[in-house]
Amino acid sequence: MSFRNISKEALVGSITLGAVFVVGYVFGKRKSSRMSILKSHDGGNVDPLMQYVLNHSMREHPVLKKLRLRTMEESMNIMMVACEQSQLMANLAKLIKAKKALEIGVYTGYNTLSIALVLPDDGVLVACDVSEDYTNIGKPFWKEAGVEHKIDLRLQPAVKTLDDLLAAGQAETFDFVFIDADKVNYDNYFEKSLQLLRKGGIIAIDNVLWGGSVLNPSPDDADTVAIDKLNKKLHRDTRINLSMLTVGDGLTLAIKI
Ligand SMILES: C[S@@+](CC[C@H](N)C(=O)[O-])C[C@H]1O[C@@H](n2cnc3c(N)ncnc32)[C@H](O)[C@@H]1O
Ligand SMILES: *[C@@H]1O[C@H](CO)[C@@H](O)[C@H](O)[C@H]1NC(C)=O
Ligand SMILES: *[C@@H]1O[C@H](CO)[C@@H](O)[C@H](O)[C@H]1NC(C)=O
Repeated sequence: MSFRNISKEALVGSITLGAVFVVGYVFGKRKSSRMSILKSHDGGNVDPLMQYVLNHSMREHPVLKKLRLRTMEESMNIMMVACEQSQLMANLAKLIKAKKALEIGVYTGYNTLSIALVLPDDGVLVACDVSEDYTNIGKPFWKEAGVEHKIDLRLQPAVKTLDDLLAAGQAETFDFVFIDADKVNYDNYFEKSLQLLRKGGIIAIDNVLWGGSVLNPSPDDADTVAIDKLNKKLHRDTRINLSMLTVGDGLTLAIKI
């Protein structure tokens, strides 16, 4: 397959005014505490050093690029994973020779596609979401990239899908998990994923810094409280090896011992 360097227009020019609005809306409540962590798409402004990183590292598959640009047309595009973070996770999945992966929170399926592209032809990615509207945006791109046969999309609450997989005897069989759905369920997702994961497998958890609000969690902000609680729990969890990266909005890697 062909890779090519990403152009500046593709990264910056496609970010819509809508995104600026959504950033203000979604992060409005914790704007004062929001930290400036380098990220590829944060509503229009790309830090020059981040632009340098992107210019010198992104090897985005042409269909991934098309899906990213399509996603940028959406009003909720702030939900999309950072492309450089997705590339990192694909590299990790490839490194551990992942054959079976799980994604909790698909949205338009950018990361779904990115991971499916590095799975072997008989690999499978169980993709969990509740939104047909969002996931329908990604489907044609999965097909165009020739990986739709690897993607098993399950449209129901993710906790139900994880329970189904456990009930089907799939514990200890997954190589790679990406947790990126509703934050109040993060601990459920982590515990069930850890059961589904094989030893040496990786769970990647997104938004662990939540725009910096974890520094000062307000008790009435259930999302921040849930994230901070899980961060504290993982720090002392002896079932895993651990890294917390400042890529994107904060990415935790938990490797099952
Ligand atoms: C941040 S987005 C995921 C972004 C995606 N990983 C990507 O690569 O761009 C979160 C997604 O979680 C989904 N979601 C929210 N609650 C859910 C639930 N209970 N079960 C499954 N999916 C859920 C939303 O519909 C949304 O598409
Ligand atoms: C990134 O690449 C674009 C397009 O080639 C170029 O215009 C821009 O100056 C580059 N920026 C950095 C910081 O490397
Ligand atoms: C991973 O965890 C094991 C068991 O707690 C520990 O012995 C080892 O040092 C850890 N590795 C790293 C890189 O932290």
